[in-house]
Amino acid sequence: MSHNGQNHTQGQPAGPCVMVIFGASGDLTKRKLLPALYNLAKARLLPAEFAIVGFAFDDLTPESFRQRLSDDMKTFVAAGLDEPLWAWFLERIYYVRGNFQDPEAYQRLKEQLEQADKGHGTAGNRLFYLAVAPRFFSEIVQQLGSTGLASQEEGLWRRVIIEKPFGRDLDSAVKLNAEIKTVLDESQIYRIDHYLGKETVQNIMVFRFGNSIFEPIWNRHFIDHVQITAAETVGVEHRGGYYDHAGALRDMVPNHLFQLVTLTAMEPPVSFAADAVRQKQVDVLHAVQPPAPEDVLKNMVRGQYAAGSKGSERLAAYRAEPDVAPDSQTETLVALKLSIDNWRWADVPFYLRTGKRMATRLTEITIQFRRAPFILFQNTPVKGLETNRLVMRIQPEEGISLRFGAKIPGPIMNIGLVNMDFDYVRYFDSAPSTGYERLLYDCMIGDATLFQRADMVEAGWRVIQPVLDVWKALPPRNFPNYAANSWGPPEADELLARDGREWAQEGD
Ligand code: BG6
Repeated sequence: MSHNGQNHTQGQPAGPCVMVIFGASGDLTKRKLLPALYNLAKARLLPAEFAIVGFAFDDLTPESFRQRLSDDMKTFVAAGLDEPLWAWFLERIYYVRGNFQDPEAYQRLKEQLEQADKGHGTAGNRLFYLAVAPRFFSEIVQQLGSTGLASQEEGLWRRVIIEKPFGRDLDSAVKLNAEIKTVLDESQIYRIDHYLGKETVQNIMVFRFGNSIFEPIWNRHFIDHVQITAAETVGVEHRGGYYDHAGALRDMVPNHLFQLVTLTAMEPPVSFAADAVRQKQVDVLHAVQPPAPEDVLKNMVRGQYAAGSKGSERLAAYRAEPDVAPDSQTETLVALKLSIDNWRWADVPFYLRTGKRMATRLTEITIQFRRAPFILFQNTPVKGLETNRLVMRIQPEEGISLRFGAKIPGPIMNIGLVNMDFDYVRYFDSAPSTGYERLLYDCMIGDATLFQRADMVEAGWRVIQPVLDVWKALPPRNFPNYAANSWGPPEADELLARDGREWAQEGD
């Protein structure tokens, strides 16, 4: 293995390192990061030479931090805590109290890290996880730079993980990238999109490029259109303060939905190396034409939920949620039609929709194939032919199904629709997973394939910036426009109906 871990073989424990968690007292640490590290240790993928340093402003000591994590782990590790394994963790967890803006706190961090190197053989390698509000990203990186904590001299590695939002529009994303790149090389920056931690999302590449039968039909000659739905039943929950300034478009589209778009639409990469894969993904985004204002008005639908009900449960309107302005104009649902102008996808629309308080929780990609060229079955009850449809279900019931027509048994020729189903849980035992295991491990071994490059983030914003601009200039006049627990406003259906199509419904 090279010092920077670049040639590490997957499946071996990662090399020595310390993971520093900024914002260690927050939710992400207890819900995802620590359980993920624990699962990695169980799978023997963490190095023996390992330590964790929490950094936060809360008034905690190393002992009280460990105690807190022990309590949290009992709640968040589903299968019951393996005590000897957790004891191993407790021997290597430290805490530095400090303000993200305070240079002295970074000196204390530096000393703590040097001690960890001595005590645990962590060899100067560091993974800095910024589990903090985005306004601190740049500040923390600058401080790491001025303390020398980000420099990779003498064959050791220093990597920084940040999680979305990467900016709130194109300009702020460009600015954020530029600021952090004054300190870090692009190869040190690991931008997480948690959708890429999902097994089913990673499986899109395996499905397309690990099999020989799908790729030949994966293009405009066979595919009529593609639909991507990420529907949530929850409302804005306790995140009104953030969400009311973001909205569904920023929150879901240039990041999670564009991951699904690029993995579905990308050309086969020349290798599975990080930059080979990411180059093909970004090529897709470059082929999406940023919409002209009239296209925004025609092809981009926004919605906001009104009150509704589910059985006997009353669901509040978005405007009545905590920390949301009573006259909020923020969208909680979007439905978009995109065109990818390249040889593979010209004239194949990609319809995307995502929203809160929709009728079912469901994330899936539907590949709708073209109809058979003519109806062979004359003088039979067969009146029309349905189309083939491949559905990649990302969540909650992970799997893939292919719809096709089959003869209904009996003396008369008639056709019924049937499904060939692959269901993840029926085929594979699922290991406990938070969705962060693979991402943390990949960062430790220096594999950036599942992380966002700066140009990918900016290309995503470039596509949606015109939508943000038009929507800002023309505030919605009909909000709220869909009932909680529904499939959104009628305009979302009309978007497809205009093209003679409709959204795939569950069980179709
Ligand atoms: C987050 C968004 O990034 O993704 C949330 O900020 C959204 O608003 C969530 O609920 C959806 O993730 P998942 O994994 O539940 O599909």
